[in-house]
Amino acid sequence: MTNTADLIPARLSAEIAAQALRAPQIPPLRPADRSALLDRCRRLLRERNAVLVAHYYTDDDLQYLAEESGGCVSDSLEMARFGRDHPATTLVVAGVRFMGETAKILSPEKRVLMPTLDAQCSLDLGCPAPEFSAFCDAHPDRTVVVYANTSAEVKARADWMVTSGIALKIVEHLHAQGKKILWAPDKHLGNYVQRMTGADMLMWGGSCVVHEAFRANALEDLMKQHPDAKILVHPESPEPVWRLADVVGSTTALINAVRDIDADKFIVATDRGIFYKMRQLAPHKTLIEAPTVGEGATCVSCAHCPWMGMNGLANLADTLETGRNEIHVDPGVGARAVHSIQRMLDFAHEHGIGTARK
Ligand code: 13P
Ligand code: SF4
Repeated sequence: MTNTADLIPARLSAEIAAQALRAPQIPPLRPADRSALLDRCRRLLRERNAVLVAHYYTDDDLQYLAEESGGCVSDSLEMARFGRDHPATTLVVAGVRFMGETAKILSPEKRVLMPTLDAQCSLDLGCPAPEFSAFCDAHPDRTVVVYANTSAEVKARADWMVTSGIALKIVEHLHAQGKKILWAPDKHLGNYVQRMTGADMLMWGGSCVVHEAFRANALEDLMKQHPDAKILVHPESPEPVWRLADVVGSTTALINAVRDIDADKFIVATDRGIFYKMRQLAPHKTLIEAPTVGEGATCVSCAHCPWMGMNGLANLADTLETGRNEIHVDPGVGARAVHSIQRMLDFAHEHGIGTARK
């Protein structure tokens, strides 16, 4: 059984789209500036006892620097886990705000900085904590499962936090125990999980501005032009899109698929920032962006998260220099939120589920 609650007023959806369109993008760097900024960041990371943790969707330069300097490039869960286990006293999180908050919740004793504090996520923005809490209060019989792409306050209200890499397994487990689920915020990921598990899920109606823009009919046309390509889709995409996929999975799962599947060509329906890592692991394979609503029209994202695109070498260097853009999470909220995250980490550990690339 599935049921999506229409809880996001049109005004809020319009505001989120407007914010996405306004997000200032990092301009391309001239080679000399890039090299000088890389040197400055390397020096500052050492001097500040800091480690750079970057998401797969961030700028190539940040992914390059993170790996070269002993940090990590990963999905949101692995980023937080890496930050928690690393001895550095400062974590610099290149990604979007909820990733900085998750890192802080798992490592409250560390200083967590971000190149910008304005990098949001449409899922997080579309699930304000007071409204979400009222929704939970109205359904006390349901186990509350939230996606990582939420604020610390929303995580604090949840029984479980999940990422796309583990959502299916956790919902399967809860369903097998006869639990009814309240799911938030992504209706597309929730729908995918519901279809795969058959669980009883009541859903918040949020969506990702990037993945929601992929189009099944345009993808079918592209597939006809490339009949030998394998189709990789992130489950934040609408059902008609993931129905066409050879692999539906988290960012890490899609990267592993490019490396492991015996094919030369892939059409990829997720943020194109992920191509950096895919090319690194499979340099001879051909990667094609899946078409979005932006083809021949206008789009909010055009297969690149506008908020991920706010992170670059220049604001990273400034953050390291000044210590600005520190993430703070109210300790009481953090102490409650950590339970839903820890529950997922314990489950992953018990069931041998990792999201790190193997
Ligand atoms: P991951 O959890 O796979 O890193 O994905 C986060 C995200 O924002 C996907 O759009
Ligand atoms: Fe949020 Fe979508 Fe950007 Fe991921 S890609 S951070 S889900 S807006």
